[in-house]
Amino acid sequence: MYTKVQLPYEYNALEPILSRKAVKEHYDFHYSNYTKGLNEAYLKNNIQLKLINILHNINDYPKEFRENGGGYINHSIFFQCLKPISYENPIPDSLKKIMRNDFGSVDEFMNYFIGMGKKVFGSGWVWWCIAPNGRTIIATTKNQDTPYSENLYPIFGIDVWEHSYYLDYLGDRLKYLNEIFKIVNWDYVISRIKIKMNSYV
Ligand SMILES: [Fe+2]
Repeated sequence: MYTKVQLPYEYNALEPILSRKAVKEHYDFHYSNYTKGLNEAYLKNNIQLKLINILHNINDYPKEFRENGGGYINHSIFFQCLKPISYENPIPDSLKKIMRNDFGSVDEFMNYFIGMGKKVFGSGWVWWCIAPNGRTIIATTKNQDTPYSENLYPIFGIDVWEHSYYLDYLGDRLKYLNEIFKIVNWDYVISRIKIKMNSYV
């Protein structure tokens, strides 16, 4: 039985970047539905495998795992990628170094990430991932597809479904993507990199 990750802040804690109403709707309604759908898929199909293993071979499983399993894991990462706004939210040096190595500069990383997120047609996600060769790349997925199914390990992801930004930004996805960098939880991104590195050991 999968359960939602606990929201690590109050519903209104991301204001003014994301409103209480938008965060509550996203966490209480959309994320809940994916979680419920995933548990129903397990029951219906009588599958015992861990979700991560299913996602790695998603084409072998019923589509409700792609839709709800993806929705579950994507949102579990997303809500932890954010944190309440503070006076400054500097990118840690260790992450800046990776951005420079893999994208040329911090600005190039930001522009590329935001540009890729803007270009997602319809609903989907933009991700910063570790590729099999150990380098990091920006990737996008459509609907609730996950980087895991592309053999990529997500360390940071932003939801670009309209349900994530329409209440606060109407159709202006570009503004949403720019603003959301003010509330990124960089420590969480670092923790995901460490988890991935340790899994090699
Ligand atoms: Fe979402």
